[in-house]
Amino acid sequence: MNAWMKNGVFYQIYPTSFYDSNGDGIGDLKGITEKLDYVKSLGVDGIWFNPFYPSPFMDGGYDVADYCAVHEMFGTMADFEEMLAKCKALGIRVIIDLVIGHTSDKHPWFVQSTKDEKNKYSDWYVWTDNNFNKFGDKSIHGLYPRDGGYVINYYACQPALNFGFNTPPRAPDPNNAYDLGEYWKMHYTDERLKPLREEILNIMRFWLDKGVDGFRVDMANSLVKGCLYNSDKDEDIEGVRWLWNLLIGTIKKEYPDVGFMAEWVYPSNAVGKCGFDLDYLAHDRQEYNELLRNEKGTNILPAFEKGHTYFSDDGQGDIENFLKYTMRLHDDVEGKGYFSVPSGYHDIVRVAEKKDNEQMKVMFAFLLTYKHVPFIYYGDEIGMTHKFGINKDGGFIRTGCRTPMQWTNGKNRGFSETDGELYLPVNDVAGQSVETQEEKEDSLLNTVRKLVKLKKENEAFNADADLEIVSCENGGYPLVYRRLNSESSFLIAINPSAKPVSVALKGEVLLSQNCETENGEAKLLGKSFIIVKE
Ligand code: NOJ
Ligand code: CA
Repeated sequence: MNAWMKNGVFYQIYPTSFYDSNGDGIGDLKGITEKLDYVKSLGVDGIWFNPFYPSPFMDGGYDVADYCAVHEMFGTMADFEEMLAKCKALGIRVIIDLVIGHTSDKHPWFVQSTKDEKNKYSDWYVWTDNNFNKFGDKSIHGLYPRDGGYVINYYACQPALNFGFNTPPRAPDPNNAYDLGEYWKMHYTDERLKPLREEILNIMRFWLDKGVDGFRVDMANSLVKGCLYNSDKDEDIEGVRWLWNLLIGTIKKEYPDVGFMAEWVYPSNAVGKCGFDLDYLAHDRQEYNELLRNEKGTNILPAFEKGHTYFSDDGQGDIENFLKYTMRLHDDVEGKGYFSVPSGYHDIVRVAEKKDNEQMKVMFAFLLTYKHVPFIYYGDEIGMTHKFGINKDGGFIRTGCRTPMQWTNGKNRGFSETDGELYLPVNDVAGQSVETQEEKEDSLLNTVRKLVKLKKENEAFNADADLEIVSCENGGYPLVYRRLNSESSFLIAINPSAKPVSVALKGEVLLSQNCETENGEAKLLGKSFIIVKE
């Protein structure tokens, strides 16, 4: 179990959009280095960086063409090392994206594997055994000389690396003379898959030797085919479980302090069974929303902005299933790791969309005091909204949450000096910028800083400290809970709705918004929260 992840608050940076140091309109590593003092000023412990590797950027860099190098638009390996050194000097952990479910179709390994002649890389990708044998709607045919179709993980340009299948290859049906079986589906223990696994371990070693602290593993649940990753049945995840325990187990023996965060979206499996230290709950996944759907059929994830959420001020939200589900998760991951409910990330509509800064503060009061590991998506701390109608790098609607960080109210929002075009356009909604919010003591930015500080100063807010739900009638408003350990106890009440409510509480008020306290009672006006040390 990883020690530094549990107490941490993390920040996520999308490299094209944080800061452009050389005026070419594209964010870069030197630019990030220049802004690390700002990141440090938030009080966070670490940064997760989206991919910065050489890539055709057909999917925001999640189509890697070289795992051990830096894309030239972001700078050089020396720039990365300088950034890492400054992170270390500031006490900021570095988590990088490890995208090993697939590569780009331009990766030299894949180029080799498309050839008809057998070579070192022929088995590194999942290919069917003749061009007309398909793998459902997940294989692409007819593009290359090789007699077969390649299985994809996401877009067509993202061929799946071959970690095998959950079940042994299927033999031909004796009653069907035309059936040749499915010998191309190698079992996950097949010896032919070992060289790829070794290479993956070496990629991790490459970055860990540079001083990187951990990995966020893209589509970690996808590596062994035929697994039902959100199933609770052991046999359904046997292969992927075997693989991750092997990979993580090997690396942890060599680098005991490394942290592994999964993109699995099912912590019961990723953390509970597969060796990860952390997994996160993605707001945009259908299967996850199915799990959490309440009777009213509304989305109940706190930060999901489609329909009613608990954090909309219409007061229609219902957080009961979320609470029930996360209680179950706490049991499933206990003693092994943690999960995160991120404020946002690079794949979803910005959480500040349709929320004002007061609502955002209520949401952050929740995210920075609840029992989990908080991740703040860059710009959420100043309430950056979504820019609809733009599309770049295969982002489509997701592009709108990847716009440049809004540093100032001036040219290009202080992101770039260029007079030319920006790689991604700025979102020109007025008001939300670091410059504006630095000055005001109770701005969203400064409130986030205060909340992070409060959390960091009190171990009762750690992911392994206790949580007690005090009251939340029918999943409605307010939500009152306690965070505690053997030394201290805190009561938190949040009321994202516009309707006032009352809560009985005693103690020292540490932080609040729109609250009036008198004689052991707090009146929580609309869009309010209060944190009390009992
Ligand atoms: C999840 C990443 O977050 C997303 O941006 C990407 O498109 C897919 N995985 C495919 O790698
Ligand atoms: Ca640049």
